Amino acid sequence: MSIIEKHGHGGDVLTAQNLFGIPQEQFLDFSANINPLGPPESAMNAIMDNIHTIVHYPDPVHRSLCTRLAEKLGILEEKLVIGNGAAECMALVLLALQPKVVGIVYPSFSEYTTLSRTFGAKIEPCFGPIENNFKPVMSDLYQLIDKVNLVFIGQPNNPTGILYTKEELKSLAIHARNTNTYLVIDEAFIDFVSTQEKYTILDKLHHFPNVIIIRSMTKFYAIPGLRLGYSICSEEVALLLKRKQVTWSVNSLALIAGEACLQESEYEEKTIDFIESERAYLKEKFEKEFSFTVLPGTANFLLVRLPVPMTANELQSKMGQQGIMIRSCSMYPGLSEQDFRIAVRARKENNKFLDVLKKVVMNWSEVE
Ligand SMILES: Cc1ncc(COP(=O)(O)O)c(C=O)c1O
Repeated sequence: MSIIEKHGHGGDVLTAQNLFGIPQEQFLDFSANINPLGPPESAMNAIMDNIHTIVHYPDPVHRSLCTRLAEKLGILEEKLVIGNGAAECMALVLLALQPKVVGIVYPSFSEYTTLSRTFGAKIEPCFGPIENNFKPVMSDLYQLIDKVNLVFIGQPNNPTGILYTKEELKSLAIHARNTNTYLVIDEAFIDFVSTQEKYTILDKLHHFPNVIIIRSMTKFYAIPGLRLGYSICSEEVALLLKRKQVTWSVNSLALIAGEACLQESEYEEKTIDFIESERAYLKEKFEKEFSFTVLPGTANFLLVRLPVPMTANELQSKMGQQGIMIRSCSMYPGLSEQDFRIAVRARKENNKFLDVLKKVVMNWSEVE
């Protein structure tokens, strides 16, 4: 069966168009976890007002955005490396630090594995037990850290949504520091977490020259096509990352839009509030009306397990034919054919999704 993730990720509307014969702009995309509010108006205006600047090269050292970001985060500019999305930041970490063995906690974002392999590292896997929503026990994580040069941790983890407490992160960082292991904490979705200060060790980073925090601006500010992310780390590691970066890899419109995004506070509060209530709404519907198993979720996505014999690939195909994209998770190491992920969207879209799902589930065997 063909799936929309044939190029590795959700959000591939062109593949969906080819598979389901529906124009790409007509899909309701629940397969990529993007803020359904769309980009802040100020970011769109900043792009329009500055479109003429594309005749110049972008600032190769991202000065203005760095200054604003450092102010907002309360850190030194020298600790920041702006990247062409969090994905570039991960690549720079691997290129600069050249780990021979990378520890990966599964199931997790596939680029941890793909990029590590691309840059020649071996993978050491670690699986969390399903009873604990796939969150590994700490002793397994310590053992993983002992065996590798670098570990990727998703915080919150995609697609499970699990979070480590600040205390857990601190103890992992200490263990990693003691064993000369780099700990890469991918906080691409942390902005969606309502009490994010409780789940980051950003304020403790000066104790941990071995820790690199990676963040994305593409999801929260709904600019995945523009590409923008950043790493926060020690000044020394930042210099190593910058040395590997292709000059001008971050374009000028992304830099300008990023600055506008950072000034948004109402948009941030609004996003966090409605994501929290829509996530709870969807979870309850899945459990009460469909009897599906749903992981708690902490950001703007939910991992859902279908009852056998339904499969996520079949569900994707049936929903796709109705113009709705979901993320099959059957290819994630550690997950099963029954697992799929959906983005949390606005109420009207969520209700549309639930209506279509109801019809698809009711007609499941008839359509076979
Ligand atoms: C966990 C996680 N980290 C990082 C990324 C990449 O983010 P960006 O669009 O900023 O490259 C993704 C994209 O899906 C992701 O799911």
